[in-house]
Amino acid sequence: MAKLSVKDLHKSYPNGNGGEVKVLDGITFNLEEGELLSLLGPSGCGKTTLLKIIAGLLKADTGNVFIDGLEVMPGHNKVGYIFQQESLFPWRTVKQNIEYGLEISKVSSQDRQAAVDRIIEIVGMKGLEDNYPHEISGGQARKTEMARSLVVEPEILVSDEALSNLDAQTRNYLQQEFLRIKDAIGSTVLFVSHNVDEAVFMSDRILVMSNMPARIIAEYRIDIPKPRNRASPECLGYRAKILDVLGAEQAKAMGV
Ligand SMILES: Nc1ncnc2c1ncn2[C@@H]1O[C@H](COP(=O)(O)OP(=O)(O)OP(=O)(O)O)[C@@H](O)[C@H]1O
Ligand SMILES: [Mg+2]
Repeated sequence: MAKLSVKDLHKSYPNGNGGEVKVLDGITFNLEEGELLSLLGPSGCGKTTLLKIIAGLLKADTGNVFIDGLEVMPGHNKVGYIFQQESLFPWRTVKQNIEYGLEISKVSSQDRQAAVDRIIEIVGMKGLEDNYPHEISGGQARKTEMARSLVVEPEILVSDEALSNLDAQTRNYLQQEFLRIKDAIGSTVLFVSHNVDEAVFMSDRILVMSNMPARIIAEYRIDIPKPRNRASPECLGYRAKILDVLGAEQAKAMGV
């Protein structure tokens, strides 16, 4: 049974003129236990909308989301979410930020300490626990957000362009760290990116979304053992194929 099953999701937003704009137009896919599946698509195509529906933060117009075979409804808490915008609380230390979800779930102070210490060790933030967000780097902030999402042991982790807005070196390093942490915890990950190289380097499988209204237009299983070499002919081969599909989609959007 798939860990996550998304069935025929449709979503429109009001357009401000009393009408509506259709964003998702029948999105269907499965995510298997332990898999890292990336969603690639043109900017504004509906990736964040899709993640929010899966995480129960937004309601679809029609369609269903199943986790471990059971349908989930808005408000469920089975998904850990790393947001597109940096979202650490500036008034809380690294440790207090990570602890936040456990406080909300009313976990006892003793259990919170054990869980937070463990995840801080795994993500490699030891020694920085008592720093505030303005006292850590952008890369460390991303690791803290990852820890905050993982400490509550979600069934699935969704990541919305978590590694954007970082310099190339830090981004490459964090891609490796993300994979290491994913393996250490054994998580199942849905990973949104608009960077093809990143998706090819990290993913077991990639889905490409069309322009709005978004549909899934291509699927690639990346059959290259990890760790991968970004410059290998295999990686570059996938990159070229995917860029072709995305490029054609972009051209359509621009009326070319
Ligand atoms: N709350 C909202 N009300 C109305 N329209 C919205 C709302 N949220 C998003 N949209 C519109 O829906 C479309 C999809 O937005 P979404 O944020 O899901 O795209 P995205 O693929 O995540 O984009 P990006 O790659 O730039 O992050 C966009 O055209 C956006 O303007
Ligand atoms: Mg987005």
